[in-house]
Amino acid sequence: MTAFGAEDLRASAAQDSHQTVLLGEAIDALAIRADGSYVDATFGRGGHSRLILDRLGPLGRLVAFDKDPEAVAVATRISDARFSVVHASFAELAGVLERLGLEGVDGVLLDLGVSSPQLDDAARGFSFRRDGPLDMRMDTSRGQTAAQWLETASEAEIREVIRDYGEERFAKQIAKAIVAARQRGPVVTTGHLADIVGAAVRTREKHKDPATRTFQAIRIYLNQELAHLSLALPQILDLLTPGGRLAVISFHSLEDRIVKRFMRDATRADVPIRLPLRESELPQSRLRLIGKTVRSSAEEIAANPRARSATLRVAERTGA
Ligand SMILES: C[S@@+](CC[C@H](N)C(=O)[O-])C[C@H]1O[C@@H](n2cnc3c(N)ncnc32)[C@H](O)[C@@H]1O
Repeated sequence: MTAFGAEDLRASAAQDSHQTVLLGEAIDALAIRADGSYVDATFGRGGHSRLILDRLGPLGRLVAFDKDPEAVAVATRISDARFSVVHASFAELAGVLERLGLEGVDGVLLDLGVSSPQLDDAARGFSFRRDGPLDMRMDTSRGQTAAQWLETASEAEIREVIRDYGEERFAKQIAKAIVAARQRGPVVTTGHLADIVGAAVRTREKHKDPATRTFQAIRIYLNQELAHLSLALPQILDLLTPGGRLAVISFHSLEDRIVKRFMRDATRADVPIRLPLRESELPQSRLRLIGKTVRSSAEEIAANPRARSATLRVAERTGA
């Protein structure tokens, strides 16, 4: 188990910038209309938001969301009458926009997952590379920490989370090792958890720390990342005005699969059994896909290794 001190926490807290992934690609994909209304559902440090604001005219509007109070604090420093920020999950998108008096929007961006400041700040407990308290909550104002969950979860629960959200072959061995370790004392630091997982995972994947999958799994579970994404997508579809765009950047196959299936299903029209129909009566799909999936260029990946796994999918709301 590695030790961590106040010095380490301060040093990592100082690294407070996020290198925005697929910046130009995602904002070009939104085809911003100068007087349109847009949502950046994952503000982070506002890389995408700032470019949206650059492209909006004086009558445009941008509403940003983030679950993380630190991200929201950064957003509140943007002094621009066209911009507002909400501390909420994008799973609450429809209700929040209704309260803001917005009936429809012309584009929504989701840049999923965690930001670099969240990963780089040892005090947030997301990283197996930096020893710190085992927290992993995006919204530090509510919910249980990873340490609290690991204290009470059953071995079966831990195994299922690590298997389902980490796609980890050694989920059974890891869950067993965690339960054995907590009998000796609480597992409350990232370093301790990484050590337990490292000892339980028998084989090594190239360029991948043995704790990668387990940390990803616990993070996804605690923050209900997949559930919130699944809740947000249909709300966005209902809120988009005809011609409005949805752009989603995902970082792993579990979330990309949800986005891909949602977009695919919404691009299919429900054809009724009663045929034949006149052309004007034929059902129309609610979304149409825009372009192919976009990945980061070799240059972007060289400059920002996190971009390696990014996938951008874009769709446009039809008039149906
Ligand atoms: C990859 S970062 C976004 C970075 C941002 N595009 C930028 O350029 O700075 C993802 C952000 O989304 C936030 N987030 C993740 N899930 C969320 C959710 N369900 N609702 C609101 N914010 C969420 C995280 O707290 C994090 O700040």
